[in-house]
Amino acid sequence: MRIFRAGVVGTGFIGQVHIETVRRLGNVEVVALTDKFNAKETAEALNVPNHFSNYKEMIDTMNLDMVHICTPNNTHFDIAMYAMEHGVNVLCEKPMCTTTEEAKLLVAKSKETGLVAAINFHNRFYPMNNHLKNVIKDGDLGDIFSITGSYTQDWLLFNTDYSWRLNSSESGKTRAVADIGSHWMDLAEYVTGQKIVAVNADFSTIHKNRKKPKGIVLAYSDNQYKEEDYEDVPIDTEDNANVMFRFSNGAKGSAFFSQVIAGKSVAINLLVGGYKKSAEWNSEKCNALTIGNRDSYNEVLEKGITTVHPNTKPLIAYPFGHLEGFPDAFKQSFKSVYSSIGNTTIEHDYATFKDGLREMILCEKIYESNQVQGWVDVPNA
Ligand SMILES: NC(=O)c1ccc[n+]([C@@H]2O[C@H](COP(=O)([O-])OP(=O)(O)OC[C@H]3O[C@@H](n4cnc5c(N)ncnc54)[C@H](O)[C@@H]3O)[C@@H](O)[C@H]2O)c1
Repeated sequence: MRIFRAGVVGTGFIGQVHIETVRRLGNVEVVALTDKFNAKETAEALNVPNHFSNYKEMIDTMNLDMVHICTPNNTHFDIAMYAMEHGVNVLCEKPMCTTTEEAKLLVAKSKETGLVAAINFHNRFYPMNNHLKNVIKDGDLGDIFSITGSYTQDWLLFNTDYSWRLNSSESGKTRAVADIGSHWMDLAEYVTGQKIVAVNADFSTIHKNRKKPKGIVLAYSDNQYKEEDYEDVPIDTEDNANVMFRFSNGAKGSAFFSQVIAGKSVAINLLVGGYKKSAEWNSEKCNALTIGNRDSYNEVLEKGITTVHPNTKPLIAYPFGHLEGFPDAFKQSFKSVYSSIGNTTIEHDYATFKDGLREMILCEKIYESNQVQGWVDVPNA
């Protein structure tokens, strides 16, 4: 068995999830990590043999097969470009970067090099979402006329909650849309096979100023600070986005993306309406899918090898009744990405840089729509 050598850049919240999860594949060794802060301590704690404070040094010296990019959005472009220029495959966190211009350059570089260039839209890899994609393709719901839902969180509810994401220079022009809306839109397009062709958005920011702790704050950190440890900073990104969509087959839809709804830590909802049936998936009950019937009882399908579409079976790792969640979706996403090393033409479900570019275009058009307060067309890319 070929053992792949992985290096992870950024070991805050999601970087540590990457390290733990990719090890579960069995054919990947995490040989190095890079972080600007505490790289040595993190490497020791996670038993990673090499650590760096500069990703270029890691890429230059570690003979890597894959770089996992788990840093703030504004650093993704430089790291991905450097990796590909040095012949290393890339698994980049979403959103791909901060502008469509950067995204186009990354897509061009990935085509030129033929390397794996993946974006971790892991929601595609929950078995029940894959099942939904397959039954929609088979026509079980009938033609789709409605695609609606939400992605809500609460970790930025208070004015003392802070993250680099709040700041457009690190996050990109949009925040709730790029950070979580991108997941929802990728999932909606992926399962239904329909493309968003126009958007109409309305944003709001509930804290125009926030209290930023002096020093580094990792995502979901629960550190406590004293009054004198904070500085007041203006906020230039949205907490809430209401977006209406028009889809390529004529279906209409809408979604609410928010990081300030108390009690919703990570809640993704997708409701697809077809002429025969509806289907609803919710991340809080991610092992189930509800099929809605008009003239009969509703069906709640539980994840299991005998309950899912035949094409979905490879995504199920544990027997019926054994729940698979967030880290398992990551594992399946990574498995798919690593299986393309050396042969990017094989059929796969993971999102590529092309899909990353598409999300960047959607974010940009949604931002534009909020500015003009009206419908904006989305080019097909
Ligand atoms: N797929 C998902 O569900 C998911 C979930 C969370 C975050 N993310 C994405 O992952 C990325 C990181 O988010 P996070 O929540 O882990 O943030 P975080 O703030 O918890 O961690 C970021 C880490 O990157 C380090 N860092 C910053 N600049 C660096 C540089 N130039 N070189 C090396 N290290 C650097 C920081 O020190 C920190 O440890 C973001 O793009 C985010 O959108 C994806």
